[in-house]
Amino acid sequence: MNYVAVTVDGRKITFPTEGTMRLDAISPTTRFLPEQLTVTPGKTVSEVCLNWITEADGLGAELRYRKAGENNWQTLAVTEIETVNVRGDRGTFTSYSADLRDLAPATDYEYMAVTKDGEDEYRSDVHTFTTLPDGKAFSFVLVSDLQSTNEEGYLPFLYTNNTFLTDTLHPDFLVNLGDLTEDDTMQQWSFLFDTAGEVLSSRLIAYVPGNHESKGDVIYSQFKGRTNLPDGIDDPILKENTASFVVGDVCFVILNTEPYSGEDSADASGDKLRYYALEKEWAKEAFEASGCTYRIILAHAGLVQKDDAATAFLEQMCAELDVDLFFNGHIHDYFRATVDGDGNKADVGSGTTFITTSPMGMKFDDYEGEIDDVLDFQTGGSGDERQYLTYVEVTEAGIAVTAYQRTEAGDASLKKCADYTQIDSFTISAPAAPEQPETTAHPNEPAETKAPETPVQPEQPENREQPNRTWLWIALGAAVLAIAAAVVVLRKKEKTK
Ligand SMILES: [Fe+2]
Repeated sequence: MNYVAVTVDGRKITFPTEGTMRLDAISPTTRFLPEQLTVTPGKTVSEVCLNWITEADGLGAELRYRKAGENNWQTLAVTEIETVNVRGDRGTFTSYSADLRDLAPATDYEYMAVTKDGEDEYRSDVHTFTTLPDGKAFSFVLVSDLQSTNEEGYLPFLYTNNTFLTDTLHPDFLVNLGDLTEDDTMQQWSFLFDTAGEVLSSRLIAYVPGNHESKGDVIYSQFKGRTNLPDGIDDPILKENTASFVVGDVCFVILNTEPYSGEDSADASGDKLRYYALEKEWAKEAFEASGCTYRIILAHAGLVQKDDAATAFLEQMCAELDVDLFFNGHIHDYFRATVDGDGNKADVGSGTTFITTSPMGMKFDDYEGEIDDVLDFQTGGSGDERQYLTYVEVTEAGIAVTAYQRTEAGDASLKKCADYTQIDSFTISAPAAPEQPETTAHPNEPAETKAPETPVQPEQPENREQPNRTWLWIALGAAVLAIAAAVVVLRKKEKTK
């Protein structure tokens, strides 16, 4: 007989085993420990939004952080603490949110979450994140629909992050387009963090709420309690489900495409359209206030979905708000469509391009709805069990979008998740710069200062009342000469008489 041993709070516990066994050791103090940490891009690149939870409530909290390599921790007192009672008796937890500001760009920071019960202190492990660059050039990756009912279901995301993203694409941040769990249970949320917690606590990830985030609680309590999004609509239901942030010359807006009031007697479709109208007005304000050249919407459902009213609204909204790109998941396939302001198929760059990029989990579906004739590209289905992701690179030249699908189907492994095949790509070119006046000066020499040209005066109408004075003087001179000549002739005649 073999024994496995584990030490909990200094006490050694042994278990008999014939082979391998799963051992969940829970310390009495686990309830106070910060867990399920997330880091999200802040409103600007100098801000980062953090979140964690504890099982226990009534604790104090602070965030300790420093630039990687520095000795001293800086401390931020955490005041945004909320006890979350998930509807449907799904459990209770406490959520902590902290916003770090005035961070240096493209810099590694270490942090730890801390909770306090009187004199006792409970610390998370030390994690590291990298802030976003402050120029116009940056990149990000979109994934969606990780939804799983067990720990293994999150392996494609974990392994893809640890191989293809880390070694090949090097994105500055990720976007998760929704449906993080299948049934929104506390246990499934734990499975996500058990498998991919290290990624979620160290990668900047912008989170989008999906319809499966409301499976357990229609007002998204579990999603809101585990994420900390920047900005958002000032509405009790939408506030923590929406967000906007700016990176480089791009304004991102996160919308909730399945919002509900949570009222028992609510008219679900009426609720949805009412919130859609609110979200559209807020997105307009966020885009205009940003002053950015490019506008991107991140949402869970998009142009391909089984709700014609929602599809029509999103299409019209994007045309009115001049949205460049709309990324979504929900349907577990890859679709691309570009639509102009009249709802017609258009060329990339002349309307809004809608991208469905899903899944990064193990759930593969066939889309059974009507496929819109505006689609440029579609692939996937339940018979093609390979994950998708989309990589976006923003430069001075524009926005380059490349979609990838895992090359080999089958169970996730590090080796298989390192190998993706490009399936689609397109570029939205930067708007043409206004034409500059030509100059012959050498690039290193100061441009020759050119005197402004005398403005051309409009032609004066001919003034017939004022004859040309030159001709007047000539005429007068001729008359004087004629008189003088006549006098000479007369005098000659007098002499000859
Ligand atoms: Fe979904």
